[in-house]
Amino acid sequence: MNRIFLCGFGNVGRAFVKLVLSKKELIAKRNYDLKIVGILDSNGAALDAKGFTEEDLIGLLNTRRGEVSSTEKGRKKISFEEALSITQPNIVVIATPTVYSKDSPGIYLSLTALRNGCNIVTADKSPLALMFKDMMMESSKRNLKFKYKATVMAGTPIIDMLSQIKLYDIEEVEGILNGSTNYILSKVSRDFLSFEEALASAKALGILESDPKLDLEGLDAAAKLVIIANTLGYDLKIEEVKRTSITNQEEKIKSILKKNKVPKYVGILNFSLGKAQIKLSGYPYSDPMSNVNDTLNAIRIKSSINNIFIVGKGAGPLETAHALLSDVVSIIEGC
Ligand SMILES: NC(=O)c1ccc[n+]([C@@H]2O[C@H](COP(=O)([O-])OP(=O)(O)OC[C@H]3O[C@@H](n4cnc5c(N)ncnc54)[C@H](OP(=O)(O)O)[C@@H]3O)[C@@H](O)[C@H]2O)c1
Repeated sequence: MNRIFLCGFGNVGRAFVKLVLSKKELIAKRNYDLKIVGILDSNGAALDAKGFTEEDLIGLLNTRRGEVSSTEKGRKKISFEEALSITQPNIVVIATPTVYSKDSPGIYLSLTALRNGCNIVTADKSPLALMFKDMMMESSKRNLKFKYKATVMAGTPIIDMLSQIKLYDIEEVEGILNGSTNYILSKVSRDFLSFEEALASAKALGILESDPKLDLEGLDAAAKLVIIANTLGYDLKIEEVKRTSITNQEEKIKSILKKNKVPKYVGILNFSLGKAQIKLSGYPYSDPMSNVNDTLNAIRIKSSINNIFIVGKGAGPLETAHALLSDVVSIIEGC
């Protein structure tokens, strides 16, 4: 049996459980033999070493946030180690908040799970944005997998593609990696809203991180750039990414528009110049980057043999849940 332990039961964690339930027939048909044995939130866990039934999972989906440990199979304040030792999972799925410090729950949960022999699938960017090499070393020395397709352009499997292009002469990677800031800029350049109005619209839609600075000051995009660079084999650290905030840039946005270009908040990795940055840049209408609007993401990979341009959905709980389940299945299939 493949025993899944889910850490984090918010938007993404719940979407993951709903997706597993909605795909139960396909999962059975393909003999994946997948059971969820534990769900952890910030107050404790619910556990069933035999695997939760469909009824249990529906019941858990109906609990309020922070309340999985108050359910019938709940254990308040149980430590993660004890929860692992009771449930013996082989795959831990991490959907805890991305926190950019070494105190991040995702880092602790990943390291603890690896040390207890579990493969990892994460949507939380912090373990990789802050400790990419350590996580890969910890997993490979134990012959375990560490999968993270959900961390960058979750709705578009860009990480799979990047991890398959080995020894290509990549000169530059450039991308719109943050959907919320792209939404704001689309509202400004296409719908003629002021920056403040566009920001208010993004807030009203709930598409900004709970701390909007993570989007507006480029930390979210920088974390993704770090994950992309390391996936391609470059040892980039988050503090090496130069960031310009998108706030207080009305003059620059106006000047880009005056030049008949479209402002985009992009991440750029230039390997020959050794530069990594998040900045506001103008693109002519002839450039496909200028047409990537609203919450869509895009990435352009320039190499000596090809220019690859991929546009697709970035984040969103359902898209992210699909990326998580796809990584879980890859582990089950031994990929
Ligand atoms: N939302 C998206 O579209 C999206 C897309 C791609 C990636 N991501 C990433 O996916 C992760 C989850 O996002 P989300 O939107 O689901 O966040 P969320 O709704 O805030 O849920 C976070 C969950 O983590 C739990 N949690 C917090 N601290 C914990 C700890 N120390 N130990 C165990 N559980 C803890 C929370 O517990 P309580 O329920 O008790 O509060 C909550 O259940 C984030 O890292 C995010 O960056 C999100």
